[in-house]
Amino acid sequence: MSRTARKLDHINHALLTGQANTHGFEDVMFIHNSIPETNYDEISLTSKIGGLSLSSPIFINAMTGGGGEQTKKLNQQLAEVAAETKVGMAVGSQMAAIKESEQRESYEIVRKSHPDGIIFANLGSEATLDQAKMAVDMIEANAFQLHLNVIQELVMPEGDRNFTDTYKRIEKLVQGLEVPVIVKEVGYGMNNQIIQRLASIGVRVVDIGGFGGTNFSKIENERRQQKLNYFNNWGITTTASLLEGSVVDAEIEILASGGLQSAMDLAKSLALGAVAGGFAGRFLKVLVEEGQEKLIEDINQIINDLKMLMTALGASSPKELTNVPLIVLGDTFHWATQRGID
Ligand code: FNR
Repeated sequence: MSRTARKLDHINHALLTGQANTHGFEDVMFIHNSIPETNYDEISLTSKIGGLSLSSPIFINAMTGGGGEQTKKLNQQLAEVAAETKVGMAVGSQMAAIKESEQRESYEIVRKSHPDGIIFANLGSEATLDQAKMAVDMIEANAFQLHLNVIQELVMPEGDRNFTDTYKRIEKLVQGLEVPVIVKEVGYGMNNQIIQRLASIGVRVVDIGGFGGTNFSKIENERRQQKLNYFNNWGITTTASLLEGSVVDAEIEILASGGLQSAMDLAKSLALGAVAGGFAGRFLKVLVEEGQEKLIEDINQIINDLKMLMTALGASSPKELTNVPLIVLGDTFHWATQRGID
């Protein structure tokens, strides 16, 4: 199957498989504050990712790999949505466009549609420095996402089996690229040792991409006869990953993603220490099933809801959300206890 056909298949399966909602957000509860002393009109959502300023702590996460006409259309639609709502946006893997130059316009359209946007380039962890530079130049990206997809590759019969030298490649990218490198999981989460080691080689931003939203093991398993079902429930939930990130002793920013559906999920992510949250499957579903206008409406609603939640919680900025008291219950609590995380 060609790369483009495989990616189209991913979109269809992602929509069908939907979101699992086992991300752990239901385990996190805010403690009501009767006297928050906040003013809705003075809530600031301004955020920074790797030194890049965003007007809200929201970005559209990577989804448009593969190239081809459908990728081009989705990229254009998402870029227009990002421009309208002033959120950041990652493109999907650009490897197709690196290997076949005629695919480049499927990605270049993003910068054309959103000239002043905060846009992230994207490649998998096999990427070389030259390929990463090409990906960044192709869309004049403000940052570069490198995605880690060991389990997805293992589940695919034609996928990679050799994952050696990844840290070495990442270090070269960090040293050689002029934009921040965001090391990103795709739905299996990250533990604190991995984040710590990434910090030690110079990575300053990770997207923990936790378990509980889009599930690539399920998507890949559904597409084939020979199934590796034991990977269907594999991964560290989004809330557990955020707690893992919170105990890392290094200067590194954490981005939350993996099953984010609402402003409440985002507020909980920020309270657990993330500087911003990425939405993928949820936004794709709205875009494909209900259209661009509806997605714009939806994102504006999330922005408004986040401000309402912050007003109620007594937090005037995303940073202040980290001081808001909360209770951690259920599996996330047990995870934290056994991992020695307070
Ligand atoms: C993805 N994702 C993804 N990630 C990446 O780094 N490069 C890519 O090319 C893709 N492609 C892709 C296609 C489709 C159809 C989906 C739904 C997702 C993963 C995505 O960015 C995110 O990490 C996961 O989907 C988890 O977030 P959600 O979907 O639970 O919000």
